[in-house]
Amino acid sequence: MSDAEPIIALENVYKIFGPNPRGRAFDLCSSGVGKDEVQRQTGHVVGMRDISFEVHKGEIFVVMGLSGSGKSTAIRTVNKLHDVTSGRVVVEGINVQDLTGTALQAFRREKLSMVFQHFALFPHRNVIDNTAYGLKVQGVEKRERHEAAIEALAMVGLEAYAFNSTRELSGGMQQRVGLARALCSDPDILLMDEAFSALDPLIRRQMQDELMAIQSKLHKTILFITHDLNEALRIGNRVCILRDGKVIQIGTPEEILTEPADGYVAEFVQDVDQGRVIEVEKVMQAAVFLDTSKSLTECVDSLGERRGGFVVDGDGRPIGLLSVNDAASALAHGTTDLGSVLRSDFDTTTPHARFNDNYAAAGRGLPIAVLDEAGRLVGELEPREIMEEMGRVEELVDGFEREVFL
Ligand SMILES: Nc1ncnc2c1ncn2[C@@H]1O[C@H](COP(=O)(O)OP(=O)(O)OP(=O)(O)O)[C@@H](O)[C@H]1O
Ligand SMILES: [Mg+2]
Repeated sequence: MSDAEPIIALENVYKIFGPNPRGRAFDLCSSGVGKDEVQRQTGHVVGMRDISFEVHKGEIFVVMGLSGSGKSTAIRTVNKLHDVTSGRVVVEGINVQDLTGTALQAFRREKLSMVFQHFALFPHRNVIDNTAYGLKVQGVEKRERHEAAIEALAMVGLEAYAFNSTRELSGGMQQRVGLARALCSDPDILLMDEAFSALDPLIRRQMQDELMAIQSKLHKTILFITHDLNEALRIGNRVCILRDGKVIQIGTPEEILTEPADGYVAEFVQDVDQGRVIEVEKVMQAAVFLDTSKSLTECVDSLGERRGGFVVDGDGRPIGLLSVNDAASALAHGTTDLGSVLRSDFDTTTPHARFNDNYAAAGRGLPIAVLDEAGRLVGELEPREIMEEMGRVEELVDGFEREVFL
Protein backbone atom coordinates (compact mmCIF):
# COMPACT_ATOMS: atom_id res chain seq x y z
CA MET A 1 0.00 0.00 0.00
CA SER A 2 2.81 2.39 0.84
CA ASP A 3 4.12 2.31 -2.74
CA ALA A 4 0.86 3.71 -4.03
CA GLU A 5 0.42 7.30 -5.11
CA PRO A 6 -0.73 9.28 -2.09
CA ILE A 7 -4.33 10.52 -2.26
CA ILE A 8 -3.71 13.14 0.41
CA ALA A 9 -0.30 14.63 1.08
CA LEU A 10 0.61 17.27 3.62
CA GLU A 11 4.05 18.67 2.90
CA ASN A 12 5.75 20.64 5.69
CA VAL A 13 2.54 22.35 6.67
CA TYR A 14 2.54 25.13 9.24
CA LYS A 15 -0.58 26.75 10.58
CA ILE A 16 -0.30 29.70 12.90
CA PHE A 17 -3.34 31.47 14.33
CA GLY A 18 -3.18 35.19 15.00
CA PRO A 19 -3.18 38.57 13.28
CA ASN A 20 0.21 38.15 11.64
CA PRO A 21 0.75 34.42 11.09
CA ARG A 22 3.68 34.78 8.69
CA GLY A 23 5.59 37.21 10.90
CA ARG A 24 7.80 36.58 13.91
CA ALA A 25 5.62 33.75 15.18
CA PHE A 26 6.37 31.79 12.05
CA ASP A 27 10.08 32.59 12.16
CA LEU A 28 10.30 31.40 15.75
CA CYS A 29 8.20 28.34 15.12
CA SER A 30 10.09 27.26 12.02
CA SER A 31 13.41 27.69 13.80
CA GLY A 32 12.28 25.16 16.38
CA VAL A 33 10.87 27.28 19.21
CA GLY A 34 8.05 25.36 20.93
CA LYS A 35 4.36 26.14 20.84
CA ASP A 36 4.12 27.58 24.36
CA GLU A 37 7.15 29.80 23.91
CA VAL A 38 5.89 31.12 20.55
CA GLN A 39 2.61 31.98 22.21
CA ARG A 40 4.33 33.67 25.13
CA GLN A 41 6.52 35.79 22.90
CA THR A 42 4.08 36.67 20.13
CA GLY A 43 0.56 35.90 21.31
CA HIS A 44 0.14 33.64 18.25
CA VAL A 45 -1.06 30.06 18.57
CA VAL A 46 0.79 27.31 16.75
CA GLY A 47 -1.78 24.92 15.26
CA MET A 48 0.54 22.86 13.06
CA ARG A 49 4.31 22.74 13.03
CA ASP A 50 5.98 21.31 9.98
CA ILE A 51 3.50 18.49 9.56
CA SER A 52 4.04 16.04 6.72
CA PHE A 53 2.19 12.80 6.05
CA GLU A 54 0.74 10.89 3.14
CA VAL A 55 -2.53 9.02 3.05
CA HIS A 56 -2.63 6.25 0.47
CA LYS A 57 -5.54 5.03 -1.57
CA GLY A 58 -7.83 2.71 0.31
CA GLU A 59 -6.24 3.12 3.73
CA ILE A 60 -7.64 4.30 7.03
CA PHE A 61 -5.08 6.80 8.24
CA VAL A 62 -5.64 7.90 11.80
CA VAL A 63 -4.35 11.12 13.30
CA MET A 64 -4.22 10.82 17.05
CA GLY A 65 -3.23 13.21 19.80
CA LEU A 66 -4.43 14.96 22.93
CA SER A 67 -6.79 17.90 22.90
CA GLY A 68 -5.13 20.91 21.28
CA SER A 69 -2.47 18.87 19.48
CA GLY A 70 -3.65 20.09 16.07
CA LYS A 71 -5.78 17.22 14.78
CA SER A 72 -8.80 19.26 13.72
CA THR A 73 -6.58 21.94 12.30
CA ALA A 74 -4.80 19.33 10.19
CA ILE A 75 -7.95 17.71 8.82
CA ARG A 76 -9.39 21.13 8.04
CA THR A 77 -6.50 22.00 5.79
CA VAL A 78 -7.46 19.07 3.56
CA ASN A 79 -10.73 20.64 2.46
CA LYS A 80 -9.41 24.17 2.94
CA LEU A 81 -11.62 25.03 5.85
CA HIS A 82 -8.25 26.41 6.98
CA ASP A 83 -5.63 28.11 4.83
CA VAL A 84 -2.11 27.04 5.63
CA THR A 85 0.58 29.45 6.76
CA SER A 86 3.31 27.58 4.91
CA GLY A 87 3.72 24.26 3.10
CA ARG A 88 1.44 22.42 0.69
CA VAL A 89 -1.66 20.26 0.90
CA VAL A 90 -2.14 18.08 -2.17
CA VAL A 91 -5.26 15.97 -2.75
CA GLU A 92 -5.31 13.70 -5.79
CA GLY A 93 -2.66 15.86 -7.39
CA ILE A 94 -4.54 19.10 -6.74
CA ASN A 95 -2.85 21.81 -4.71
CA VAL A 96 -5.70 22.62 -2.37
CA GLN A 97 -4.41 26.11 -1.58
CA ASP A 98 -4.91 27.12 -5.22
CA LEU A 99 -8.62 26.34 -5.14
CA THR A 100 -11.09 29.18 -4.78
CA GLY A 101 -14.72 29.91 -5.56
CA THR A 102 -16.65 27.37 -7.60
CA ALA A 103 -13.59 25.14 -8.09
CA LEU A 104 -13.24 24.85 -4.32
CA GLN A 105 -16.96 24.15 -3.94
CA ALA A 106 -16.88 21.46 -6.59
CA PHE A 107 -13.78 19.92 -5.01
CA ARG A 108 -15.44 19.77 -1.59
CA ARG A 109 -18.63 18.28 -2.96
CA GLU A 110 -17.20 15.73 -5.30
CA LYS A 111 -13.92 14.55 -3.83
CA LEU A 112 -14.57 14.40 -0.15
CA SER A 113 -17.15 14.20 2.61
CA MET A 114 -16.73 15.11 6.22
CA VAL A 115 -18.24 13.43 9.29
CA PHE A 116 -18.21 15.50 12.45
CA GLN A 117 -18.25 14.66 16.13
CA HIS A 118 -21.61 16.20 16.79
CA PHE A 119 -23.58 14.69 13.95
CA ALA A 120 -24.55 18.09 12.54
CA LEU A 121 -27.89 16.83 11.25
CA PHE A 122 -30.74 19.13 10.29
CA PRO A 123 -33.38 18.58 12.99
CA HIS A 124 -36.28 19.70 10.79
CA ARG A 125 -35.44 17.29 7.97
CA ASN A 126 -36.14 13.58 8.11
CA VAL A 127 -33.44 10.90 7.90
CA ILE A 128 -33.53 10.44 4.14
CA ASP A 129 -33.36 14.15 3.40
CA ASN A 130 -30.47 14.56 5.80
CA THR A 131 -28.71 11.68 4.06
CA ALA A 132 -29.39 13.00 0.58
CA TYR A 133 -28.58 16.60 1.44
CA GLY A 134 -25.23 16.69 -0.35
CA LEU A 135 -26.77 15.37 -3.54
CA LYS A 136 -29.57 17.90 -3.30
CA VAL A 137 -27.01 20.69 -3.14
CA GLN A 138 -25.38 19.18 -6.22
CA GLY A 139 -28.72 19.44 -8.03
CA VAL A 140 -29.40 15.70 -8.27
CA GLU A 141 -33.12 15.08 -8.82
CA LYS A 142 -35.20 13.70 -5.99
CA ARG A 143 -35.78 10.13 -7.12
CA GLU A 144 -32.13 9.56 -7.86
CA ARG A 145 -30.88 11.12 -4.64
CA HIS A 146 -33.40 9.16 -2.56
CA GLU A 147 -32.23 5.93 -4.18
CA ALA A 148 -28.64 6.79 -3.31
CA ALA A 149 -29.70 7.73 0.21
CA ILE A 150 -31.53 4.46 0.78
CA GLU A 151 -28.47 2.58 -0.39
CA ALA A 152 -26.24 4.57 1.98
CA LEU A 153 -28.69 4.07 4.86
CA ALA A 154 -28.71 0.34 4.17
CA MET A 155 -24.93 0.32 4.60
CA VAL A 156 -25.32 1.64 8.13
CA GLY A 157 -28.39 -0.49 8.89
CA LEU A 158 -30.91 2.35 8.98
CA GLU A 159 -33.00 1.96 5.84
CA ALA A 160 -36.07 1.23 7.97
CA TYR A 161 -35.76 4.70 9.51
CA ALA A 162 -35.54 6.63 6.25
CA PHE A 163 -38.73 8.58 6.84
CA ASN A 164 -38.34 9.11 10.57
CA SER A 165 -37.40 12.44 12.03
CA THR A 166 -33.77 12.61 13.15
CA ARG A 167 -35.03 13.77 16.55
CA GLU A 168 -36.44 10.29 17.11
CA LEU A 169 -33.02 8.68 16.81
CA SER A 170 -30.47 7.85 19.52
CA GLY A 171 -27.02 9.41 19.39
CA GLY A 172 -25.54 6.30 17.80
CA MET A 173 -28.24 6.24 15.16
CA GLN A 174 -27.75 9.91 14.43
CA GLN A 175 -24.08 9.32 13.92
CA ARG A 176 -24.96 6.53 11.50
CA VAL A 177 -27.01 9.04 9.55
CA GLY A 178 -23.97 11.32 9.57
CA LEU A 179 -21.92 8.49 8.10
CA ALA A 180 -24.63 7.60 5.57
CA ARG A 181 -24.76 11.24 4.50
CA ALA A 182 -21.01 11.22 3.93
CA LEU A 183 -21.23 7.98 1.92
CA CYS A 184 -24.26 9.05 -0.09
CA SER A 185 -22.43 11.24 -2.57
CA ASP A 186 -19.89 8.43 -3.02
CA PRO A 187 -16.77 10.54 -2.41
CA ASP A 188 -13.27 9.09 -2.80
CA ILE A 189 -12.24 10.48 0.55
CA LEU A 190 -13.89 10.52 3.97
CA LEU A 191 -12.71 13.00 6.55
CA MET A 192 -13.85 11.96 10.00
CA ASP A 193 -13.11 14.29 12.92
CA GLU A 194 -13.76 12.54 16.23
CA ALA A 195 -16.77 11.00 14.52
CA PHE A 196 -17.33 8.40 17.23
CA SER A 197 -16.00 10.26 20.27
CA ALA A 198 -19.41 11.37 21.56
CA LEU A 199 -20.78 7.81 21.61
CA ASP A 200 -20.73 5.52 24.59
CA PRO A 201 -18.16 2.73 24.47
CA LEU A 202 -20.32 -0.15 23.26
CA ILE A 203 -21.99 1.86 20.48
CA ARG A 204 -18.64 3.30 19.62
CA ARG A 205 -17.18 -0.14 19.11
CA GLN A 206 -20.10 -1.12 16.91
CA MET A 207 -19.54 1.98 14.81
CA GLN A 208 -15.86 1.13 14.48
CA ASP A 209 -16.79 -2.36 13.33
CA GLU A 210 -19.28 -0.97 10.87
CA LEU A 211 -16.82 1.50 9.49
CA MET A 212 -14.30 -1.29 8.96
CA ALA A 213 -16.94 -3.49 7.31
CA ILE A 214 -17.99 -0.65 5.01
CA GLN A 215 -14.38 0.08 4.24
CA SER A 216 -13.68 -3.51 3.24
CA LYS A 217 -16.45 -3.17 0.64
CA LEU A 218 -15.97 0.38 -0.58
CA HIS A 219 -12.21 0.94 -0.21
CA LYS A 220 -12.49 4.65 0.45
CA THR A 221 -9.52 6.67 1.55
CA ILE A 222 -10.26 7.66 5.13
CA LEU A 223 -8.57 10.29 7.25
CA PHE A 224 -9.82 9.63 10.76
CA ILE A 225 -9.16 11.80 13.78
CA THR A 226 -9.34 10.57 17.35
CA HIS A 227 -7.85 11.30 20.76
CA ASP A 228 -8.25 7.63 21.73
CA LEU A 229 -5.25 5.44 21.02
CA ASN A 230 -7.26 2.24 21.37
CA GLU A 231 -9.58 3.44 18.63
CA ALA A 232 -6.64 4.56 16.50
CA LEU A 233 -4.90 1.22 16.77
CA ARG A 234 -8.09 -0.73 16.24
CA ILE A 235 -9.19 0.87 13.00
CA GLY A 236 -6.08 2.47 11.55
CA ASN A 237 -3.93 0.91 8.87
CA ARG A 238 -1.44 3.55 9.90
CA VAL A 239 -1.45 6.00 12.76
CA CYS A 240 0.11 9.45 13.03
CA ILE A 241 0.66 10.78 16.54
CA LEU A 242 0.65 14.54 17.04
CA ARG A 243 1.79 16.58 19.98
CA ASP A 244 1.74 20.37 20.23
CA GLY A 245 1.16 20.64 16.49
CA LYS A 246 4.05 18.35 15.59
CA VAL A 247 4.29 14.82 14.23
CA ILE A 248 5.84 12.55 16.84
CA GLN A 249 5.46 9.22 15.06
CA ILE A 250 3.84 7.66 12.00
CA GLY A 251 3.56 3.90 11.81
CA THR A 252 1.41 0.82 11.71
CA PRO A 253 -0.42 0.00 14.94
CA GLU A 254 2.13 -2.68 15.61
CA GLU A 255 5.07 -0.33 15.10
CA ILE A 256 3.52 2.22 17.44
CA LEU A 257 3.05 -0.43 20.10
CA THR A 258 6.33 -2.19 19.81
CA GLU A 259 8.60 0.74 18.93
CA PRO A 260 7.09 3.88 20.46
CA ALA A 261 9.12 6.85 19.22
CA ASP A 262 9.47 8.51 22.61
CA GLY A 263 8.24 8.65 26.17
CA TYR A 264 5.08 10.50 25.13
CA VAL A 265 4.00 7.71 22.84
CA ALA A 266 5.18 5.07 25.28
CA GLU A 267 2.93 6.55 27.93
CA PHE A 268 -0.08 6.27 25.67
CA VAL A 269 0.85 2.76 24.75
CA GLN A 270 0.84 1.66 28.38
CA ASP A 271 -2.92 2.02 28.51
CA VAL A 272 -3.55 0.07 25.37
CA ASP A 273 -4.98 -3.37 25.17
CA GLN A 274 -2.16 -4.87 23.16
CA GLY A 275 -4.13 -8.02 22.44
CA ARG A 276 -6.25 -6.09 20.00
CA VAL A 277 -3.30 -5.31 17.89
CA ILE A 278 -0.80 -8.09 18.32
CA GLU A 279 -1.04 -10.91 15.84
CA VAL A 280 -0.98 -14.53 16.91
CA GLU A 281 2.20 -15.03 14.91
CA LYS A 282 4.10 -12.70 17.25
CA VAL A 283 3.26 -14.62 20.40
CA MET A 284 2.84 -18.23 19.30
CA GLN A 285 5.43 -20.87 20.09
CA ALA A 286 6.68 -23.86 18.17
CA ALA A 287 4.21 -26.71 18.62
CA VAL A 288 5.19 -30.00 20.20
CA PHE A 289 4.65 -32.78 17.65
CA LEU A 290 3.92 -36.11 19.31
CA ASP A 291 5.19 -39.42 18.05
CA THR A 292 2.28 -41.90 18.09
CA SER A 293 4.62 -44.86 18.40
CA LYS A 294 5.57 -43.61 21.88
CA SER A 295 3.77 -44.46 25.09
CA LEU A 296 1.59 -41.96 26.89
CA THR A 297 4.24 -41.48 29.57
CA GLU A 298 6.93 -40.80 26.98
CA CYS A 299 4.64 -38.31 25.24
CA VAL A 300 3.99 -36.47 28.50
CA ASP A 301 7.76 -36.30 29.08
CA SER A 302 8.26 -34.81 25.64
CA LEU A 303 5.90 -31.94 26.54
CA GLY A 304 8.32 -30.57 29.10
CA GLU A 305 6.80 -27.40 30.55
CA ARG A 306 4.12 -27.14 27.89
CA ARG A 307 0.41 -27.65 28.40
CA GLY A 308 -0.05 -29.89 25.42
CA GLY A 309 1.19 -31.35 22.16
CA PHE A 310 -0.32 -32.37 18.87
CA VAL A 311 -0.50 -35.44 16.69
CA VAL A 312 -0.53 -34.51 12.99
CA ASP A 313 -1.56 -36.48 9.90
CA GLY A 314 0.70 -37.13 6.90
CA ASP A 315 0.04 -33.64 5.56
CA GLY A 316 0.95 -31.94 8.81
CA ARG A 317 -2.63 -31.20 9.85
CA PRO A 318 -3.34 -31.64 13.55
CA ILE A 319 -5.72 -34.48 14.34
CA GLY A 320 -5.36 -34.78 18.08
CA LEU A 321 -4.31 -32.78 21.13
CA LEU A 322 -2.76 -34.30 24.20
CA SER A 323 -3.27 -31.94 27.11
CA VAL A 324 -1.22 -32.36 30.29
CA ASN A 325 -4.38 -32.33 32.39
CA ASP A 326 -6.05 -35.07 30.35
CA ALA A 327 -2.85 -37.10 30.45
CA ALA A 328 -2.49 -36.71 34.20
CA SER A 329 -5.99 -37.93 34.92
CA ALA A 330 -5.66 -40.79 32.41
CA LEU A 331 -2.41 -41.96 33.98
CA ALA A 332 -4.00 -41.72 37.41
CA HIS A 333 -6.69 -44.12 36.16
CA GLY A 334 -4.08 -46.49 34.75
CA THR A 335 -4.63 -45.61 31.09
CA THR A 336 -1.43 -45.83 29.08
CA ASP A 337 -2.76 -45.65 25.55
CA LEU A 338 -2.11 -42.31 23.84
CA GLY A 339 -4.96 -42.69 21.35
CA SER A 340 -7.64 -42.87 24.00
CA VAL A 341 -6.50 -39.61 25.64
CA LEU A 342 -6.19 -37.48 22.52
CA ARG A 343 -8.92 -34.97 22.02
CA SER A 344 -10.13 -33.70 18.67
CA ASP A 345 -12.18 -30.78 20.01
CA PHE A 346 -9.21 -28.41 20.22
CA ASP A 347 -9.48 -24.82 19.02
CA THR A 348 -7.61 -23.44 16.06
CA THR A 349 -6.49 -20.03 14.91
CA THR A 350 -4.31 -18.51 12.20
CA PRO A 351 -1.01 -16.62 12.34
CA HIS A 352 -2.61 -13.31 11.33
CA ALA A 353 -5.58 -13.46 13.69
CA ARG A 354 -5.44 -10.97 16.55
CA PHE A 355 -4.46 -12.32 19.91
CA ASN A 356 -7.80 -11.23 21.39
CA ASP A 357 -9.75 -13.22 18.80
CA ASN A 358 -8.82 -16.21 20.93
CA TYR A 359 -10.40 -15.10 24.16
CA ALA A 360 -13.20 -17.65 24.15
CA ALA A 361 -10.88 -20.47 23.24
CA ALA A 362 -8.35 -19.30 25.82
CA GLY A 363 -10.96 -19.63 28.52
CA ARG A 364 -10.92 -23.41 28.04
CA GLY A 365 -7.33 -23.47 29.21
CA LEU A 366 -6.15 -25.66 26.35
CA PRO A 367 -3.42 -24.96 23.83
CA ILE A 368 -4.73 -23.56 20.56
CA ALA A 369 -3.42 -24.93 17.27
CA VAL A 370 -2.14 -22.30 14.86
CA LEU A 371 -2.79 -23.39 11.28
CA ASP A 372 -1.54 -22.08 7.95
CA GLU A 373 -3.82 -21.71 4.93
CA ALA A 374 -3.51 -25.39 4.09
CA GLY A 375 -4.54 -26.34 7.62
CA ARG A 376 -1.05 -27.46 8.64
CA LEU A 377 0.15 -26.97 12.18
CA VAL A 378 2.62 -24.06 12.27
CA GLY A 379 2.58 -23.22 15.94
CA GLU A 380 0.81 -23.31 19.21
CA LEU A 381 -0.76 -20.61 21.32
CA GLU A 382 -1.02 -20.82 25.08
CA PRO A 383 -2.96 -17.64 25.79
CA ARG A 384 -3.09 -18.04 29.54
CA GLU A 385 0.68 -18.11 29.77
CA ILE A 386 0.95 -15.03 27.61
CA MET A 387 -1.72 -13.20 29.55
CA GLU A 388 -0.02 -14.10 32.81
CA GLU A 389 3.16 -12.62 31.50
CA MET A 390 1.30 -9.50 30.50
CA GLY A 391 -0.27 -9.52 33.98
CA ARG A 392 -3.72 -9.49 32.53
CA VAL A 393 -5.37 -12.72 33.55
CA GLU A 394 -8.41 -10.89 34.86
CA GLU A 395 -8.87 -9.24 31.55
CA LEU A 396 -8.71 -12.58 29.83
CA VAL A 397 -11.42 -13.92 32.09
CA ASP A 398 -13.55 -10.82 31.53
CA GLY A 399 -13.11 -11.14 27.81
CA PHE A 400 -14.05 -14.77 27.94
CA GLU A 401 -17.17 -14.03 29.96
CA ARG A 402 -18.16 -11.24 27.59
CA GLU A 403 -17.79 -13.48 24.62
CA VAL A 404 -19.60 -16.40 26.13
CA PHE A 405 -22.37 -14.74 28.09
CA LEU A 406 -23.26 -11.56 26.21
N1 LIG B 1 -9.59 29.29 14.88
C1 LIG B 1 -8.61 29.26 15.79
N2 LIG B 1 -8.08 30.38 16.30
C2 LIG B 1 -7.08 30.35 17.19
N3 LIG B 1 -6.51 29.21 17.65
C3 LIG B 1 -7.00 28.06 17.18
C4 LIG B 1 -8.07 28.00 16.24
N4 LIG B 1 -8.33 26.70 15.96
C5 LIG B 1 -7.47 26.00 16.69
N5 LIG B 1 -6.66 26.79 17.42
C6 LIG B 1 -5.59 26.34 18.31
O1 LIG B 1 -4.77 25.44 17.60
C7 LIG B 1 -4.36 24.37 18.42
C8 LIG B 1 -4.82 23.07 17.80
O2 LIG B 1 -6.26 23.01 17.86
P1 LIG B 1 -7.10 21.83 17.24
O3 LIG B 1 -8.50 22.25 17.28
O4 LIG B 1 -6.52 21.47 15.93
O5 LIG B 1 -6.80 20.70 18.30
P2 LIG B 1 -7.38 19.22 18.35
O6 LIG B 1 -6.19 18.33 18.36
O7 LIG B 1 -8.39 19.02 17.31
O8 LIG B 1 -8.05 19.21 19.79
P3 LIG B 1 -9.44 18.53 20.31
O9 LIG B 1 -9.10 17.11 20.64
O10 LIG B 1 -9.73 19.33 21.54
O11 LIG B 1 -10.46 18.68 19.23
C9 LIG B 1 -4.95 24.62 19.78
O12 LIG B 1 -3.98 25.22 20.59
C10 LIG B 1 -6.09 25.60 19.51
O13 LIG B 1 -6.28 26.46 20.60
MG1 LIG C 1 -10.48 18.66 17.33
